[in-house]
Amino acid sequence: MHRLITSTLAIVTLATVGCIRPDGANKTLPGKELFAACASCHGDNGTGQANIAAPNIAGLPAWYVEAQLVKYRSGIRGAHPDDLEGLRMRPMSRQMMNEAEVKAVASYVASLTPVKQAPSVQGGDATAGAGNYGTCLACHGDKGQGNQALNAPPLAGQYDWYLVNQLKKFKAGIRGTNPLDVTGGQMRPMSMTLPDEQAIKNVVAHIATFPR
Ligand code: HEC
Ligand code: HEC
Repeated sequence: MHRLITSTLAIVTLATVGCIRPDGANKTLPGKELFAACASCHGDNGTGQANIAAPNIAGLPAWYVEAQLVKYRSGIRGAHPDDLEGLRMRPMSRQMMNEAEVKAVASYVASLTPVKQAPSVQGGDATAGAGNYGTCLACHGDKGQGNQALNAPPLAGQYDWYLVNQLKKFKAGIRGTNPLDVTGGQMRPMSMTLPDEQAIKNVVAHIATFPR
């Protein structure tokens, strides 16, 4: 049922996503200027804010940031009724940006200095998690550095609570189930290799040992 609702939503929103600027201008604002609208949640340096569940996006590769913005804009990510944080991000992604501006803001995010966030999730066992990470490294890399050829983002340096939350969302079908979400659909079965919350915390504790 959810699947049906989200896919219908996606089709409806895709149709409206042309994002024509009200001033009719084809002028493209520079990424830095566009980022002002993101800074209220992601911070001036893009390092995120735990209290509003905004992830650390500083230095994420432009191809990944752009792909996620396109997904949020078209309802492929963040439109599931149970995706509380996604629903917070989504309206922002749909502000009047043209395609060139989505690229510009993505490059600006990629240009920000990457920062490693200190772990805060309690109860994860990094040694046990190293075993689980064996499944992940083929795509995300042995140090969580990501792999563009496989569309797999870097994980190193990200807030541990954000990673835990995303793995739960993939498992619960809140992320990665929209039929148009090809790369999310590749990640979702991988989340299923983590049997329970403890395994999720363990693998995330292992990821937290990687340098950024
Ligand atoms: C109202 C607060 C808010 C604003 C403003 C906002 N975001 Fe977000 N953003 C979030 C939240 C919350 C999430 C996490 C969503 C989730 O948990 O799925 C997020 C997620 C993201 C992600 C996904 C990160 C990942 O690792 O997959 C990207 C990329 C992103 N935002 C970029 C931006 C950009 C660029 C802007 C400005 C155009 C912006 N955001 C504006 C709150 C915001
Ligand atoms: C087959 C390749 C593949 C494997 C194996 C894989 N992933 Fe992923 N992962 C992806 C892709 C592709 C994405 C991007 C999904 C998207 O575009 O929304 C992703 C996204 C993620 C995200 C979301 C990151 C963010 O910034 O929002 C997390 C967390 C994650 N993977 C963790 C893991 C863990 C932990 C494992 C091992 C249990 C794993 N992945 C195994 C391909 C893979």
